[in-house]
Amino acid sequence: MCGIVGYAGSAAAGTTTRPSEVVLGGLSRLEYRGYDSAGIARCGEGEIELFKASGKIQNLREKLAGHEASASNVAIGHTRWATHGTPSDVNSHPHLGGKHGEIALVHNGIIENFASLKKELFEAGYEFVSDTDSEVVAHLLAREYENAETLTEAMRACVAHLEGAFTLLAIHKDDPETIVAVRRNSPLVVGLGEGENFLGSDVAAFVDHTKSAVEIGQDQIVTVTANNVDVIGFDGTPVAEPKQYTIEWDAASAQKSGYPSFMAKEIHEQAKAISDTLLGRLENNEIVLDEMHIDPSHLRSIDKIIVVACGTAANAGEVVKYAIEHWCRIPVEVELAHEFRYRDPIVHERTLVVAISQSGETMDTLMAVRYAKEQGAKVVAICNTRGATIPRESDAAIYLHVGPEIAVASTKAYLGQIAACYLLGLFLAQVRGNLYGDEIEAIMRDLEEIPGKIQDVLDNSGQVEKLAHDMVETTSVLFLGRHVGFPTALEGALKLKEIAYIHAEGFAAGELKHGPIALVEEGQPVFIVVPSPRGRDSLHAKVVSNIQEVRARGAHTLVIAEEGDTDVEPYADVVIRYPETRTLFAPLLTIIPLQIFACELATAKGLDVDQPRNLAKSVTVE
Ligand code: F6R
Repeated sequence: MCGIVGYAGSAAAGTTTRPSEVVLGGLSRLEYRGYDSAGIARCGEGEIELFKASGKIQNLREKLAGHEASASNVAIGHTRWATHGTPSDVNSHPHLGGKHGEIALVHNGIIENFASLKKELFEAGYEFVSDTDSEVVAHLLAREYENAETLTEAMRACVAHLEGAFTLLAIHKDDPETIVAVRRNSPLVVGLGEGENFLGSDVAAFVDHTKSAVEIGQDQIVTVTANNVDVIGFDGTPVAEPKQYTIEWDAASAQKSGYPSFMAKEIHEQAKAISDTLLGRLENNEIVLDEMHIDPSHLRSIDKIIVVACGTAANAGEVVKYAIEHWCRIPVEVELAHEFRYRDPIVHERTLVVAISQSGETMDTLMAVRYAKEQGAKVVAICNTRGATIPRESDAAIYLHVGPEIAVASTKAYLGQIAACYLLGLFLAQVRGNLYGDEIEAIMRDLEEIPGKIQDVLDNSGQVEKLAHDMVETTSVLFLGRHVGFPTALEGALKLKEIAYIHAEGFAAGELKHGPIALVEEGQPVFIVVPSPRGRDSLHAKVVSNIQEVRARGAHTLVIAEEGDTDVEPYADVVIRYPETRTLFAPLLTIIPLQIFACELATAKGLDVDQPRNLAKSVTVE
């Protein structure tokens, strides 16, 4: 939510247009974090130069055209998801601070005590032009600069007054080679180049310039010039060796590579993504999770697992609940992270909390993690973003390795989250003695076949693409499933709502007769996710009955069924096939037609698939 970029170079590192180009390029790659407005600031001849535009980055690019060359070698930029103040040029970042606009500042987060600070600064003669909490920080920093020797010192004094969540980047007209940045409860990473350094909300901001990154910890201040990166704590203590790492993502992963949208590209990357999640994690019949830095004896003492997550990540949690309970015989609860800590949950030392978050920055999930830790629970993060706050604050982190997810609607990370949680479940079963080597190996062999089966589903997506185009006028779609098919129904509905703006609801198929069936009328499209027919068990039979129930009331039945399942055919208007697999692994296949359906339908409606209205990737406010 909000993306920030900073660049500090030297004349030797490039041309006079490089600061603006790097920052604009970084903003484009971070646009998924917010797209209400964007802006850039840099030091000109004795003054700050500012360019801002509401709407997409392209508007800023047009405003900057002809002014790319800059006098200084630093620039900062911001792409906004509005919290305080409407999306407008004036509320866009960067904000100027000081009585003569001597400072420029960008902010990601929320300053909770901004009202009292604003009053104080207003009374001291500072003039405000925007409605934002961020402008208050810009003026506050300028006030602190009056009594400080350096911008870093001023920043340290400034943050002492702030409550809330913030990543800040600031430049001063009198120090045109330096950017000072801070972070509390909001993301910030530094990229190290040759004679140039970078700052970003995440590494996508600079991945095409460097693969070398530095994690900035909670409550740290970093001073960046072309050749130096100095990190100190809010208390002024230098951080001797900030954690450096190599970025695995390549620049191509932040490009569409011929696909019409990032979402389409990410859907089609899912076979490779899942094979990367599984890579190297089974050796000699054993699940290898080197990242599980929690004592095995502690894992054996766990008597409950609570999954905390939001949105799609919570749907992934709902899927893996079935697998972990089945393999480990431990009760698993799945909680929406924003509800969790407000209901006085029962959490203690023997609870294992699993925090699922693609971004690793979702504030609701982060707060649930902190709450769980306060209660004495151990926390495992399931995350896609190296260096993010949630994995940093957890006791262990299992990374997805699915590459950057740029589209706001989550697809490949959803599959990666499920696969990574399967690994966690099998690892727990192994440590606790619920499953033995050959059993684990057999399960893993089936899991390792999943990427090939995902590819089969993708290779046969033409039918669903056509269906989506035929249904472009649809205004309401229902999704039904039982067992692991239920969270798949929820996720299918969420995808359609968020990118195609179509009313969609997912139900447990058994719940239908308790109310929702009243919604079904002639022509109502209903997707039904059908479990494997093997064994012709009661689960399969019950779902087949549910198809008949809705069809009898006029529904247009769109049935997702395993290859060879002929039982569904008499009652299905459309049958979409998925390859045979274990029931527990079917969600890695059955969601794919629903992702493609949403993506194609939104595209056919002419919508911006990657950046749906009102949304942002990485929701860093509660
Ligand atoms: C929906 C979607 C969101 C996220 C949710 C949590 O497509 O992407 O529902 O899943 O905001 O985000 P993370 O996983 O980053 O914590």
